[in-house]
Amino acid sequence: MEIKFFKTKEECSKFASEIIVNEIKKKSNIVLGLATGSTPEILYTNLVNEYKENHISFKDIITFNLDEYVGLRDLDKKQSYRFFMDSNLFNDIDIKKENTHFPINFLDKATKKDYSEYDALIESFGGVDIQILGLGVNGHIAFNEPGSEINSKTRLISLTESTIKANSRFFEKEDYVPKEAVTMGIATILKSKKIILLAFGQQKKEALAKLKNANSFDKNWPCTALWNHNDILIVTDIEL
Ligand code: GLP
Repeated sequence: MEIKFFKTKEECSKFASEIIVNEIKKKSNIVLGLATGSTPEILYTNLVNEYKENHISFKDIITFNLDEYVGLRDLDKKQSYRFFMDSNLFNDIDIKKENTHFPINFLDKATKKDYSEYDALIESFGGVDIQILGLGVNGHIAFNEPGSEINSKTRLISLTESTIKANSRFFEKEDYVPKEAVTMGIATILKSKKIILLAFGQQKKEALAKLKNANSFDKNWPCTALWNHNDILIVTDIEL
């Protein structure tokens, strides 16, 4: 596990975006796993600038987003992670929308039960080359809430009170935060060839310390699943 500390989230995001741009230069059809939330916003702005100013092309890139709410009210459609990605990245670069994937669209049509078609599609592209991850205050990665199993695949999950509270800042009322989401599983995430986890702000310190000090998986802190991934880079403004 490599940990890179910078004083500001701007410096952290610059460092992470430079890695991604270098990888795109090496492999134009790279498969990226993408996160939403406030953490990757600057990173995405940097990528847009790379496209506009330095002519980095995203036209052959394939993306898989980590998660999506289920049951958003019509009035809150702007809180969907598809909307977030379109407005923070996709609409401003030359990516083909058909190459951008969200787990919510992969409910198994026969059983109407699981979303494993998403994992299968990721595999069919040769797996995720670089997975960008944020970190929940309660240690969640994507929407793998505490209690998630290490072998979990893409699936429907109930959000915890802590996550609903944390995400209520984006909604008019806490009541309007969806109670469920579809999330890539922990096993799905662990298959990524490289993982860049971004963690900003003191409120993430406890979760980040759990990961840093982990020497086994603790399902109460889903982020600890990353402890022995063979290519995990943590970029943070939190001094541990
Ligand atoms: C959200 C998302 C996660 C994200 C995390 C942190 O609920 N489902 O993918 O990484 O919580 O969010 P933020 O970056 O806004 O702190």
